[in-house]
Amino acid sequence: MQTLAAALISVAVLILSVEAQLPTGTTGCAGPTDFFVVNATRKSQVRAIMKAIETGDQSAFAAIHPNPEFYYIQHALGVPDGLNGVQGLLTALKNSSRVQPLRIFQDGEYVFVHTNFLSFVGQPFIGFDIFRYEDGVIVEHWDQLQPTPTENNPSGWDVFAGPVIALRQTNAQTKANKDLVRRFVNDVLVKKQVQNLGQYFNGNALVQHNPSIGDGASAWLAAIAARVGTPQSVEYIRTRITLGEGDFVLVASEGKIGGVLSAFYELFRVENGKIAEHWDAVQAIPPRAEWRNNNGKF
Ligand SMILES: *[C@@H]1O[C@H](CO)[C@@H](O)[C@H](O)[C@H]1NC(C)=O
Ligand SMILES: *[C@@H]1O[C@H](CO)[C@@H](O)[C@H](O)[C@H]1NC(C)=O
Repeated sequence: MQTLAAALISVAVLILSVEAQLPTGTTGCAGPTDFFVVNATRKSQVRAIMKAIETGDQSAFAAIHPNPEFYYIQHALGVPDGLNGVQGLLTALKNSSRVQPLRIFQDGEYVFVHTNFLSFVGQPFIGFDIFRYEDGVIVEHWDQLQPTPTENNPSGWDVFAGPVIALRQTNAQTKANKDLVRRFVNDVLVKKQVQNLGQYFNGNALVQHNPSIGDGASAWLAAIAARVGTPQSVEYIRTRITLGEGDFVLVASEGKIGGVLSAFYELFRVENGKIAEHWDAVQAIPPRAEWRNNNGKF
């Protein structure tokens, strides 16, 4: 027995010493475990929930936690907590909406969506929605809506154009992409360290889908600078949510537009370690008295 134990220990020591020789940040070979495995069921559940706004399909809501005591926590501030709140909204909207969930991504227990609401309560909107799962069911939801502009932006881009599928990347790459984008928002947009802009972009290259800004990283900052002191002034206060799948990263931040407390939802595509493309939606946060739940925007 002693010999066996000694043999096992020496094998263990051998394994440990092999591990110790590997460069930090690796766990041996780059196998499939280094990749986040997307749960396609969850993406199709979320797609069905978004489409239900158009179709009224109540069966889509089976993916949402049914127990009102552990209710569905709602951050869409105009909608009450719980499944009844969503179903009530749905009944009211039935047959008046056309909804195209365009980009659906997953980060751990979160699924996030960029949606083209071709028609929603009588007008087109750019939408972002985030759903959080717990024990296999959806327990929390955040949203953002901005009316869709009728014209393309100064570079001719539609607010929804561009790639819709995330590149399959390792968990480490996804994390690096999230870190890069969050650092950019904190450093350049919140702390206004505009001299650091070059760290985050490949030169000045940026494909911009914001409705009123053209391509290029510097054009983005110039647009913010041009609005200082106007009713459209832009102020970033802090980042609140960062989610990513592969080369796509969503950052939700709190800030002000023209002094009014607002939320910024911004989707970024990262290419070779630099920000390459940007989509967004900005929405004022309604005053507390108008909320129909107590959960806050974030
Ligand atoms: C809503 O749309 C469905 C499917 O298109 C249709 O069958 C139904 O009659 C419509 N209901 C109303 C009230 O328009
Ligand atoms: C995928 O998600 C569904 C719904 O939450 C869940 O029931 C299922 O267990 C998940 N599959 C895996 C492999 O995690």
